[in-house]
Amino acid sequence: MLVLGIESSCDETAASVVKDGRQVLSSVIASQVQEHRKYGGVVPEIASRRHAEAIVDVVQQSLDDANITLKDLGAIAVTAAPGLIGALLVGVNFAKGLSFSTGLPLVPVHHLRSHVAANYLTSPELKPPFLCLVVSGGHTHIIKVADYTSFRVIGCTRDDAAGEAFDKAARAMGLPYPGGVFLDKEAEGGDPASFVLPHPTVEGAPFDFSFSGLKTAVINLIHNAEQKGQPLPRADLAASFRRAVVDCLVRNVTAAMRETGEKKLVIAGGVSANSLLRRELERLCGENGWEFYRPELSLCGDNAAMVGSQGYYEWLAGKRSGLGLNAMATMDIQLDF
Ligand code: KG4
Ligand code: ZN
Repeated sequence: MLVLGIESSCDETAASVVKDGRQVLSSVIASQVQEHRKYGGVVPEIASRRHAEAIVDVVQQSLDDANITLKDLGAIAVTAAPGLIGALLVGVNFAKGLSFSTGLPLVPVHHLRSHVAANYLTSPELKPPFLCLVVSGGHTHIIKVADYTSFRVIGCTRDDAAGEAFDKAARAMGLPYPGGVFLDKEAEGGDPASFVLPHPTVEGAPFDFSFSGLKTAVINLIHNAEQKGQPLPRADLAASFRRAVVDCLVRNVTAAMRETGEKKLVIAGGVSANSLLRRELERLCGENGWEFYRPELSLCGDNAAMVGSQGYYEWLAGKRSGLGLNAMATMDIQLDF
């Protein structure tokens, strides 16, 4: 069955046609990143306007690229939560209109569930159950994926998400927005042992994360050096910061894998593109005899192919929405629409 996926939760307007949850027939992404870059972050009002301008062409392009028409589709899946509310509403309202006019079933999709599903597109053999580290700009979760539509949160961040920490540290280092990928590249040429940075833990909660202290430590270090007029070796600082974030992620994931006895580890979300994180988890899984899955780089960030994939499994599980569907800025991944 062909599913049209639609994504507009942040600053990418995306549409995709996916076959049987596993095969990408088309994937179109209109990114607004250049426009938000001048403000150092996503401006929600601008994001909503650009989604509204782009969505018709993006959806049409995804149908054209897949060489199909609306008549060939079996369902329309749309990201309905979590995300920027005004941005989400553009995709949700467009999907509702399209569902009403075509009679196609409307399937709401949770953004983080779709990030997990990016792995079904990269690894056709992957099936739940598994443990998943979801690391994005807004979320850092360790999740037991019991089935395609059944999730249990084992650990999460108490303050900043890993991606947010990367972006804020990168900004303080003078790197462009969104900084995660630039910090990652800068770190490749640095020495991670140059700066001693905190590796925060959450007392009594070995699977939970805290990144705000680490972020503040690196920002203070930069500001102090600036005030004294001392130059900082940026590559070394980036390498030390990336090392500390990845150490925290790997530490808790290791504990969660051991505690749950899972044998399959999956990563998802924008930060799953991080090269050190991928290397370290590959090594960890190799040493422990665990299977390791990660999305191909083009599917780590926000896209609609992952929405088409998760939408297919939600559809199989009987999930449907009427025209009363609303977007939500926040939503627990464990809950259904
Ligand atoms: O999943 P995503 O595209 O959007 C959200 O749902 O938030 O994640 C975006 C986040 C940003 O914080 C971005 O800086 C980060 O993923 N990111 C990275 C890398 N590539 C993207 N962080 C670290 N290393 C990377 N290579
Ligand atoms: Zn995302």
